[in-house]
Amino acid sequence: MARILAAAAALAIVAAAAVWVQTGPGTAADGTTAGTGVDMRTPMVNSRMHGAADAARAKDPSEIIVPKFSPGGAIGEIAFQNSCAACHGTNAAGSDSGPPLVHSLYRPGHHPDESVIRAVRNGVPAHHWRFGDMPVPGDVSDVDIALITQYMRELQRANGIQ
Ligand code: HEC
Repeated sequence: MARILAAAAALAIVAAAAVWVQTGPGTAADGTTAGTGVDMRTPMVNSRMHGAADAARAKDPSEIIVPKFSPGGAIGEIAFQNSCAACHGTNAAGSDSGPPLVHSLYRPGHHPDESVIRAVRNGVPAHHWRFGDMPVPGDVSDVDIALITQYMRELQRANGIQ
């Protein structure tokens, strides 16, 4: 009996934790949500450990500064539009289906270039946002990934993320 009670208590704790992960702690200061009562554009990070910039709400797409890209970055933009923008948005500003990559969380010191290769080759289990898992996008070559990374870094730098 005691064992059943202990198991029930453990389940209740897991359920409560799951609810916390789904709902908090990221509700935006301005209260903006995607109509679900949950703010999709605020990452789930511990701001005390990560710093305020990593916990900040994603910028509006219109706030993204678009630089003049290098030749590689410009080709990367085309590959990004083909394979990534459906979720990560135009100018990597994010969309209803995926997070912005122009965000402090994805600065090179926290997500180095290898993490882009890993993301595209293996997909990404949902962990920082509420968009769900990233599936492996079809047909992206190693050269495409390198150029997309170059494009992403140039965009990030233009927006003060380095
Ligand atoms: C079907 C939607 C979708 C597509 C297409 C997509 N992504 Fe993602 N991606 C996501 C989501 C959702 C996440 C966030 C997962 C999380 O952290 O919660 C993500 C996360 C990432 C990350 C962060 C990885 C990490 O280590 O946390 C990188 C880098 C990334 N994507 C790159 C790309 C690139 C490059 C492409 C195109 C080749 C691409 N994605 C296409 C949905 C997508």
